[in-house]
Amino acid sequence: MQIITDPAEMQSIAEGLRLQHQFIGVVMTMGALHEGHLSLVRLAQKKAGIVIMTLFVNPTQFGPGEDFERYPRPFEQDAALARSAGVDYLFAPSPEQIYPDGFVTAIDPGPMAESFEGSLRPGHFKGVATVVVKLLGITRPHLAVFGEKDAQQLAVIRRAVADLNIGTVIEGAPIARENDGLATSSRNIYLSFEERQQAPLLFKAISHARQETGSGRKDLASIAREAEAIVHSGSAASTDYLCFVDDETFELASEAVPGKAYRLIMAVRFGSTRLIDNWKYLCPNDK
Ligand code: PAF
Repeated sequence: MQIITDPAEMQSIAEGLRLQHQFIGVVMTMGALHEGHLSLVRLAQKKAGIVIMTLFVNPTQFGPGEDFERYPRPFEQDAALARSAGVDYLFAPSPEQIYPDGFVTAIDPGPMAESFEGSLRPGHFKGVATVVVKLLGITRPHLAVFGEKDAQQLAVIRRAVADLNIGTVIEGAPIARENDGLATSSRNIYLSFEERQQAPLLFKAISHARQETGSGRKDLASIAREAEAIVHSGSAASTDYLCFVDDETFELASEAVPGKAYRLIMAVRFGSTRLIDNWKYLCPNDK
């Protein structure tokens, strides 16, 4: 694995690979790598001949008080994990290399960036969209893999890449789950024993929505209310949001239209731990 820090060098390597007809896949990370990141690498390896991992703690997606300075940066450990996962190039620039003096351009991801996770973290998705487009410009991949767990981030990135004709295929990687259905997350370790017992209610809520939509119901708003009642039935959890949205625009959806894709999204607090989860629902065409 080659470690590159200079954007111009990374770009010229990527251009060279393209000239050799190599198919490039990229996995973008902020480091502190865990199994979730490695599963994205494995998916990229299935689809691409060369895998580039970017490792950059992006200051512009952190809000005031969000601890950019304290974000973990175990570089040696991350590089060892990336190497053993078979990453070909690790691109790890400094903030000054990504945002040199005079940098002013930013991507405005529109209203989608202002709801749900975006309303809690103003400016977050603007920072994400801008850095992702920059990293795509530097690594020049044919394909980029992002986790479906951060569904709103994925929707913002898909929109920006389509709107700006970037031409990279954006691949969503399925949510990894524990045996009881709880989505794997580095935050799960903060759950108390009791909260950990209750947290699979999120998956139970998803399973209810899957079953009801599967039986042909289209009243998404009512199904979401039932799913929320399931979360509250066995826990003292509080819900930030739990609803169906249009999978492309992240606009609230109350009634399913055949042929359209939706997502049941949720952010639920168990004590001081906030968990997110989601499920994509494609409403089948009427026969
Ligand atoms: O999901 C993340 O880790 C980050 O938001 C990303 C996509 C690497 C951009 O900094």
